[in-house]
This record gives sequence, structure tokens and C-alpha cells, in this order.
Amino acid sequence: MQNNPESSNSSVLTYPELLAQLQGDRMPRHIAIIMDGNGRWARLHGVRRSAGHKAGVRAVRRIVETSVEMKLEYLTVYAFSTENWRRSRGEVNYLLKLILDSLITEIDELNRNNVNIRFIGSRQELSSAYYRKVMETCTRSWNNNGLHLNVAMNYGGRREIMEAFGEILQDVQSGKLNYADLDEKKVGDYLYTSGMPDPDLLIRTSGEKRLSNFLVWQAAYAEFWFTETLWPDFTREEFLQAIIDYQNRQRRFGARKVQDKI
Ligand code: IPE
Ligand code: IPE
Ligand code: MG
Repeated sequence: MQNNPESSNSSVLTYPELLAQLQGDRMPRHIAIIMDGNGRWARLHGVRRSAGHKAGVRAVRRIVETSVEMKLEYLTVYAFSTENWRRSRGEVNYLLKLILDSLITEIDELNRNNVNIRFIGSRQELSSAYYRKVMETCTRSWNNNGLHLNVAMNYGGRREIMEAFGEILQDVQSGKLNYADLDEKKVGDYLYTSGMPDPDLLIRTSGEKRLSNFLVWQAAYAEFWFTETLWPDFTREEFLQAIIDYQNRQRRFGARKVQDKI
């Protein structure tokens, strides 16, 4: 939802002013972001799509820094979907390389900031060399207990659920899991996000209002926040505005706060 058209690009309030507006006791535990609009940003600036993706990485850096400052617990960013293989080979290769190179470049800084980083997604299409490099780099951060940063890479919500089905079936067949014990919580244990809280707030930039196969299971009760801003232009101020807006919503989870007479 774009709440206030004026809130999309620049804010009248400064970053410290917005920080002061945050209610410490109503912080979302987990924020998920569909970082969309790099290509349109590039077109707008008359540069190549690759430059748009590079600018997108700078925005990720900004938002991770802000999340660390705010002591957010979980941040999940959508970097590459199981459907993004449908793009040109040139763009796919560029994105794969950019994502891995950025991880390797940033890992020391992430460690200094106590960030615990995890790639979530399917291994299927990724080469073992690629996957190994990702794992080698990520594991260097796994003693950190600050922000948990999930990079959704070759991620698809349906794929994640399919892979969970497969593992559940295997565990039932081998007797490791009793089918009668399977409930929603247990299914959650088979997802890439096992052990993490569901996203409270889901942000999508660039004006598109769809899930695009992101966190299909986990976002069942997430609050959505949409903005026209293209991802490379997304600022820490707008990030705070999204959180403040979230904090002023009433989440009901199907129940009623006040039980009026029926
Ligand atoms: C988001 O930007 C980045 C990825 C999907 C990897 P896009 O590349 O989708 O940008 P638009 O939607 O074409 O503007
Ligand atoms: C969603 O954006 C995927 C990522 C942000 C990584 P897309 O640009 O691929 O989504 P669609 O195709 O517009 O739904
Ligand atoms: Mg897009």
C-alpha cells in the first residue's frame, strides 16, 4: 500500500526525527524486502541495466547499515528469484557474479557489524563451485549474533514448499517423522527459514504490487508496504517511514481486539 504519495521519494522529516518517532516496544522482528526497479532506474538515468543492479547493491548496504543501527533482528532481501533465470543470459550471469562478489567484498564489514548472513534458496540451478564459495563466505559470519541477514538467492516460495514436501516425505518414510505430528509449526521447520520468526513487514519498491513468489508460506500474515520509489533510490528515511507506518497498524490475525456483541 502506498500510504501517502508524498512519502514515496523524499521525506520532510530528517533521519534523527524519524528515529525519534519509532516506538521501541512495537518494532517488527523481521522485515522482508522485494528490491525491485533496478532496470527502470537504469533506463531513467540512461545507463545500462548492470549499472542499475550495481546501484541496487549500494541501496542494500544502506538498508543493512540502518537495520544494524536499529537493532533489527531479521532482514530478508530478495536478490534473485527462481523465475529470474528467464532473463537474458548476460543479465543472469551478471547478477550471479554481482551477488557473490558483493558478499565477498562486504563480509569483513558485515562481521565487524556482528551480522549473521545466510543465503536462502534452492541449490538446484547453482553450480557446486558457486554454492561452495557462498557457503565458505557465509559461514565466517555464523558466530555473530546481531542482525540476521537472509539473502534470498535462487529463491522461490513454491520451490521452497516443494523441497519441504520432499524432505517431509523422506522423513515420514524413514520413520524419523510421524505423520500425525505434522502441523504448521513442523512444516516451518522444513523451510529455509527454519527457526526464524515470520516476516512482520514486507516492503516492495518500484510500484509493483505482487509477491512474485517471495515467502509464500511465511508472509501469510505480514503487513505489506508498497512504494513507487525504485530500489536504488530507496533511502533509510523511507525505510523508517515504512516501519513507523507498520507500527501504527492494528494486527488482528483473524481475531478481534474488542469483542462487540454478536
Ligand atoms: C530488481 O530489479 C532486481 C532483480 C530482480 C534481480 P529489476 O531488474 O527487476 O528491475 P525492473 O523491474 O526491470 O525495473
Ligand atoms: C522479483 O522481482 C524478484 C526480485 C526482486 C529478486 P521481478 O522483477 O523479478 O518480479 P516480476 O517479474 O516483476 O514479478
Ligand atoms: Mg523487476
